[in-house]
Amino acid sequence: MTRVLITGANRGVGLALVHQYASAGSEVIACCRDPQNAQELQNLARNSGDRVKIMQLDVADQASISALKQAVGVQPIDILINNAGINGTPKPQSANCIDAENWMLTMRINALGPILVAQALRDNILHSSEKKVVAISSVYGSITKDYGAGYASSRERYAYRSSKAALNNIMHALARDWAADGVLVGILDPGFVRTDMTGELGRTSSSSISAEESASGLKDRIAQLTTETSGEFQRFWGEPIPW
Ligand SMILES: NC(=O)c1ccc[n+]([C@@H]2O[C@H](COP(=O)([O-])OP(=O)(O)OC[C@H]3O[C@@H](n4cnc5c(N)ncnc54)[C@H](OP(=O)(O)O)[C@@H]3O)[C@@H](O)[C@H]2O)c1
Repeated sequence: MTRVLITGANRGVGLALVHQYASAGSEVIACCRDPQNAQELQNLARNSGDRVKIMQLDVADQASISALKQAVGVQPIDILINNAGINGTPKPQSANCIDAENWMLTMRINALGPILVAQALRDNILHSSEKKVVAISSVYGSITKDYGAGYASSRERYAYRSSKAALNNIMHALARDWAADGVLVGILDPGFVRTDMTGELGRTSSSSISAEESASGLKDRIAQLTTETSGEFQRFWGEPIPW
């Protein structure tokens, strides 16, 4: 049976991924910062026939990552999905105004967290059949193409954009460095998804998609990861994204 570990699994894209993998018969280790208050995830786990197990994880906290490794033990993990992320607000991060502390937190969660979690679970991944590490990135991490230029808010996302560009660079390097061990790395944009992260803009935009639609595309991309596509930056429908 495929075992999938998903970070930031209590809401948004992460919760939709838990639902879809569990429905497809996978075992899911659903990680979140505050399991006690993750009502939807708890309901999902309760009705999953023991396929969904909830574990605590704050990706910005090294002690929490170490505790997760302890809790997971030697179980193989076929697919690690680094989904947890923040958008770098509440204060704008723009050409004229930088909130340094929040920028560093954004880097810590979005860029550093995924590689720390991958390193902690490296043996679990290597002992699995599929050996896949996935980063949920964003087109906002692209440097050559100014995605989101039409939205005023994109000019206030310096921290978010740079954190996703850093994440892309890290995961691209990981694809190269763990390739000899058979590890495949996916770097995927989930689309413009109606979640807490996109808030009112996501709810009212005609171009936004549901978390279920996004998760379905991401799951297909992950299933289709090969040595040829490992390390590529792709949209959830498979189109490559320029770095
Ligand atoms: N929505 C979009 O349109 C969009 C577009 C491009 C990329 N993305 C990316 O997709 C991923 C999921 O986004 P979303 O839209 O589902 O966002 P969301 O609804 O805001 O959910 C974010 C998730 O990340 C978790 N999280 C935040 N900080 C964490 C930490 N330090 N440790 C562990 N978990 C943490 C949150 O947990 P809490 O409930 O504890 O805060 C929550 O589960 C993110 O990486 C995001 O950058 C989203």
